[in-house]
Amino acid sequence: MIAVIGCGNMATAIVKGFFNKNNEINFLTYTPSYTRAENLAKEVNGRAVKDLSELHEASTIVLACKPQQLNSLSQSINDSGLDITNKHIISILAATPVETIKKKLGVSRVTRIMPNTPALIGMGMSLVFHGKEVLDNEKKLVDEFFSSCGEVAEMPSETVFDQVTTVSGSGPAYVFLFAQTMVTKLVSWGVSEAKAKEISIQLFRGSSELMAHQKDLSLETLISNVTSKGGVTIEAVNSYKSSGIEGMTSTALDAAYLRSQNIENELNK
Ligand SMILES: NC(=O)c1ccc[n+]([C@@H]2O[C@H](COP(=O)([O-])OP(=O)(O)OC[C@H]3O[C@@H](n4cnc5c(N)ncnc54)[C@H](OP(=O)(O)O)[C@@H]3O)[C@@H](O)[C@H]2O)c1
Repeated sequence: MIAVIGCGNMATAIVKGFFNKNNEINFLTYTPSYTRAENLAKEVNGRAVKDLSELHEASTIVLACKPQQLNSLSQSINDSGLDITNKHIISILAATPVETIKKKLGVSRVTRIMPNTPALIGMGMSLVFHGKEVLDNEKKLVDEFFSSCGEVAEMPSETVFDQVTTVSGSGPAYVFLFAQTMVTKLVSWGVSEAKAKEISIQLFRGSSELMAHQKDLSLETLISNVTSKGGVTIEAVNSYKSSGIEGMTSTALDAAYLRSQNIENELNK
């Protein structure tokens, strides 16, 4: 039995993804307001609970509140009398290290996961980092769980986990931002917003599928396959490069990583 604490957007996406592939697992769901726990439980044949102590049957807990809510959750667990010391915690909290979760919740076996919003449609990218105490059968469950909502990649350290998070976890926002700049330009040329969005969707979908089909080719080659000397595309590519697109990406990702380190420091105060 798997308990889910915090039933917001991300928990709902991953739990529904898992249930669609494996409907034999029983879920218990909990949120302070109860409403979202009840909604999620209905969708996965689970049971919403009003009191944390009712989660005692679960051997695994998916932790999916916000990092800033961890202290109040820890207090609520203590108040409820629920003993979670021997449960496996699967945390999707950004910027919250294994050691912080162990200390705040008094547990020993913690796995960190960083999913992303495409998990909603089974196309997610989940990063994994297991604390050293996590058992092999627990690692297997994590792999099965998160493979049901997309791809899974284990990270060699928590530092790398937090760095890669700025690409895979936050990345959908950058892709949508880039799409937005193109839609805005198309609209300025008189294309309707709906048509401009359709064109962008197909552009991103087609390009990512092509990249997957031709994964033996370098990105450099993929770019040069669309550009020819003296042609149209190379003008835009050169303009992007001279505007410093690589430096902008590097600065943006550094900013996201710095924020994640700051959140981590605030949590440990
Ligand atoms: N959104 C993303 O793209 C994304 C990607 C990767 C990881 N994450 C991580 O996923 C986590 C959840 O994000 P989200 O976007 O799903 O947030 P969300 O929609 O705001 O959901 C947060 C959930 O936590 C519950 N909660 C609030 N206080 C709590 C407490 N004291 N104890 C237990 N549960 C509590 C809320 O309960 P109520 O329903 O009662 O308000 C809500 O169900 C975050 O830690 C975030 O870092 C998010």
